[in-house]
Amino acid sequence: MKKDSTGTQNAFDLTGRVCVVVGGGLIGSEFARALVAHGAAVAVADVDVAKGTALAAELGATFFECDTTSEQSVTMLAAAVQKQFGRIDGVVNATYPKTKSDFAQQVGVHTGAQFFVAEQFGELMAKQGHGSIVLLGSIYGSEAPRFELYAGSAVKAPPAAYATAKGGLIALTRYLAKQYRPHGVRVNLLSPGGVEDGQDKVFQKNYSVHALNNRMAEPGDLSPALVYLFADASRYMTGQNIVIDGGWTL
Ligand SMILES: NC(=O)c1ccc[n+]([C@@H]2O[C@H](COP(=O)([O-])OP(=O)(O)OC[C@H]3O[C@@H](n4cnc5c(N)ncnc54)[C@H](O)[C@@H]3O)[C@@H](O)[C@H]2O)c1
Repeated sequence: MKKDSTGTQNAFDLTGRVCVVVGGGLIGSEFARALVAHGAAVAVADVDVAKGTALAAELGATFFECDTTSEQSVTMLAAAVQKQFGRIDGVVNATYPKTKSDFAQQVGVHTGAQFFVAEQFGELMAKQGHGSIVLLGSIYGSEAPRFELYAGSAVKAPPAAYATAKGGLIALTRYLAKQYRPHGVRVNLLSPGGVEDGQDKVFQKNYSVHALNNRMAEPGDLSPALVYLFADASRYMTGQNIVIDGGWTL
């Protein structure tokens, strides 16, 4: 029988890999923790220097300042990580750039940030002949919100721009996956459902009735999928949208 590493525990090992987590917030911080636990050397990047530095120090990771809404800043980040580590095996963009601007600007800022990171790291990965890029989508990129869940709660339904941007990431992922396929670089999208973050109890109850085990997601429900996407276990997978929502969209 042909020897194959997949299907074994080693297929999820990230020892010796350099993985970049852009955005060390609610979801990104757990991503970074999981990658370190699987043996990766981790770079954390964030526009919030105090937050990113503290996370990197906690995990033994390296911090880089970056604003994902600026292409120049992302170009500098990719070059700095490459210079420091000599290789880049995985990058995930878990930033959440917020803007109070109009619809078109909101869509542009959000999709632009995902595009800059995927493209700038994709170019470096294409040169080295391998790499895994993960974009962060949302269930609202493929399903309309259940607006009634927000009634009587302080939580606001996401604006149309959010759904538009997240929907666009499905197309962007497929485009980039095909563009980089000849170069051995994989591009996938992770689309979480709502993550528990101290939302009021009315909303949590309304939301959770549609989800597995009657609860919202925890960041730790998402990070194993990221480990999978950065590891050899997913070496034949590209251009896909992995939805992790406890069955909420069923
Ligand atoms: N939290 C959820 O319920 C949920 C659900 C589905 C999808 N998502 C998506 O997951 C991603 C991460 O969400 P989160 O809940 O962890 O957000 P978060 O606000 O907790 O964290 C976002 C991080 O990005 C950083 N950041 C913001 N703007 C930046 C910029 N311009 N450049 C660099 N860093 C910047 C922030 O400092 C913060 O550390 C987002 O794309 C979000 O749309 C979140």
